[in-house]
Amino acid sequence: MLAPMPKTKTLSDGNVMPTLGLGTWKSRPGEVKAAVHAALRAGYRHIDCAWIYGNEAEVGDGLRAAFDEGLVTRDEVWITSKLWNDAHRPEHVEEACRDSLTKLGLERLDLYLVHWPVAHTRGTMMPETRGDFVTLDEVPLAETWGAMERLVDAGLARSVGVSNLDAKRLAALSEGARIRPTVNQVELHPYLQQPALLEAATALDVALTAYSPLGSRDRAASMKADDEPVLLEDATLAAIAEAHGATPAQVCIAWAIQRGTIVIPKSVNEGRIRQNLEATQLTLSADEMARVAQLDRHRRYVDGTFWTDGESPYSLAELWGE
Ligand code: A2P
Repeated sequence: MLAPMPKTKTLSDGNVMPTLGLGTWKSRPGEVKAAVHAALRAGYRHIDCAWIYGNEAEVGDGLRAAFDEGLVTRDEVWITSKLWNDAHRPEHVEEACRDSLTKLGLERLDLYLVHWPVAHTRGTMMPETRGDFVTLDEVPLAETWGAMERLVDAGLARSVGVSNLDAKRLAALSEGARIRPTVNQVELHPYLQQPALLEAATALDVALTAYSPLGSRDRAASMKADDEPVLLEDATLAAIAEAHGATPAQVCIAWAIQRGTIVIPKSVNEGRIRQNLEATQLTLSADEMARVAQLDRHRRYVDGTFWTDGESPYSLAELWGE
């Protein structure tokens, strides 16, 4: 018998984070309030947000509706947000965090992440010219991190972490930290399994959260390659799903939790929101886990080229450490 699926993960700072959360990247403002409400009604206790998703006020409306109805209390829900690239300078970190808190209608976050190891000038959402970028030599991640630590001191975030860090940067940041990063949120799914990063993070006691766990087919056309493989159409995932009377999406979610990661599938559809939560009831056999392991093809759906194109001083090799 395999162990039952862990519903929570204890982070290095002792805080307990639910292993399944609702993703909200690409959820349109008009849809996300209902999605958050449906998720909490279905039993989700973790919502993943970010300032740059442009929908935190509507996520906040969904949370408030659920709190007002007595569906859940604030303390029962884990809420993550992320610092945008234009606020890496230490003097901007707290105001950026407070802006997300205001939009979400909260007094504190459970987790606040540095969204990317990429910095822009304040006010630049997406950089277009060389002048819009700030290099990490000019604003080192360690300085941004010092301001993240102060958010914990100030009670604005219970835990702090990072996103899109490679193993080398994660180790460097962890070593120099007063409060170590608890989480690194990165792209992970059967076509991008990143076993070395998972191993390195585990050794550092950093939990990995899997973003784009279903392959993010709804991302902008400009982010898609014409010939990209469609994760949810994979024949092996379909066969495993069929054996359990489940769906390929559920196999991806069960696999993510069973390999020890946290997972945040995005949906704005009530049926799929429920289906994704029900995936936590699914247990894959050792043989099925091994078959999924074989699907790895190091395929990034969020490839990072939007940070390295044109006049950018950043490179993909540096970004991903590969
Ligand atoms: P929708 O929001 O209409 O449900 P990711 O989490 O990797 O970013 O993937 C999100 C995409 O996967 C969205 O297009 C979402 O559509 C879709 N999706 C979410 N849950 C499921 C599911 N259980 N089966 C199929 N597609 C799903």
